[in-house]
Amino acid sequence: MQKTFFIKTFGCQMNERDSEIMAQSLGSEGYVETMEMEGADLVILNTCSIRAKAEQKVMSLLGYLRKQKQKYPAMKICVAGCVAQQEGDRIVARMPHVDLVIGTQNIYGIGKYLNIKNGAAGKVVTSLADSYVIPKFLPDVKQKEKKEDTEGGFSRFVTIMQGCNNYCSYCVVPYTRGREVSRKISDIAEEVKILVQSGVKEITLLGQNVNSYGKTNPVASGDEKYNFSRLLRVVAETSGLERLRFTTSNPKDLDDELIDCFGTIDNLCPQFHLPVQAGSDSVLKRMNRKYSVKEYLGKVDRLRERCPEIALTTDIIVGFPGESDADFQQTMDLLETVRYHGSFSFKYSDRPGTRASGFGDKIEESVKSERLARFQKRQDEISLERNREYVGTCKKVMIEKCSEKETRGRTDTNHIVHFENVLSCGPGDIVHARITFAGQHSLKGEVVTP
Ligand code: 5AD
Ligand code: SF4
Repeated sequence: MQKTFFIKTFGCQMNERDSEIMAQSLGSEGYVETMEMEGADLVILNTCSIRAKAEQKVMSLLGYLRKQKQKYPAMKICVAGCVAQQEGDRIVARMPHVDLVIGTQNIYGIGKYLNIKNGAAGKVVTSLADSYVIPKFLPDVKQKEKKEDTEGGFSRFVTIMQGCNNYCSYCVVPYTRGREVSRKISDIAEEVKILVQSGVKEITLLGQNVNSYGKTNPVASGDEKYNFSRLLRVVAETSGLERLRFTTSNPKDLDDELIDCFGTIDNLCPQFHLPVQAGSDSVLKRMNRKYSVKEYLGKVDRLRERCPEIALTTDIIVGFPGESDADFQQTMDLLETVRYHGSFSFKYSDRPGTRASGFGDKIEESVKSERLARFQKRQDEISLERNREYVGTCKKVMIEKCSEKETRGRTDTNHIVHFENVLSCGPGDIVHARITFAGQHSLKGEVVTP
């Protein structure tokens, strides 16, 4: 009988793509994916350690798996991803029921490492090279369609780079994902082409800081060097690609060439996730972000000049060490100035090995909670006001799900639109919709003929 594997992904879209890579790799070793953790021959946790909470979730699931393993002694447990990279040997020392710990750069070899393991003592594979070539790994075009509750294979992620060189003082990523390495442009273009030829309509390019694509490991094609804007133009030209998105960006590397891509590349979606983290220059300095609020706002203005309909979102950390009431008020002021369409906001948490974890002047949990609640309340109000601006307008909506229970899709600005009546359409179809209602987190629409 074929062996089954279950994979649970925590954290970011990079991890989602890495899970697809592991799934594909295991498929070629004869494993089949199951959606049930209970009773699977192999359980993989692809983990995230960006905040303490993310890591705690992994640890508690591992505790649960200890009991599962008593019930199913043949079950193998693998911890992959950022917690695996960060904790390495400590995981097997603390949790002997874990069979394999596999780091962020080692996922491509998962099948191989499982065979080596053979059910004996735990195995830890967490080598992290400073410079390496990201393996060419052609996508499995059928992969998404196999999943239950399918949203179709019309939208896929393509990783363009790994790692990060920025060393923001709060961030664990440079330690868990290593130095920045860009993929070869020809590999990226080939991957996108294969996906689009198989019916994919939307591609999201992924990297920890896509704006610095090609900077550290210049990726030559012939004699040409590419930066992110040039890569965007190459990918956008893939025949049949309807929508192109990317994430995530560090504002310090957002240049005019990239800003000019908006409004000039037809299929580049008018949305930008531009994490600011804080609205106070002194906090930004201690975060090692390398831009000021004024510079950030200048870039926001230029983006909006180029592309007035662009929807901006951001990430915010509240309660960074030493953040005063006045500093936090500046974050609230920035929110009023930019009026983001949406944001992700977090309480600062210490991460192992980061500079900020050694800073004094830590903020009390209760103060962090109060600041977070204030920020989120105001953001929710602004998101609703922003969403109301769409009511009465017509938008192209790419359908994500179309069933008796639910029909919904997404605008190019990345807003979810729900439809009340079942439509005769399928995932990936584009319909023209009039927006009829705005909620805080989504819109409602009705289909109109263009
Ligand atoms: N504490 C809280 N939030 C963090 N982030 C990254 N590191 C930390 C930390 N130590 C947030 C940032 C980042 C997002 C992915 O997670 O806002 O942009
Ligand atoms: Fe989490 Fe960051 Fe690792 Fe993604 S790269 S899984 S967000 S720690």
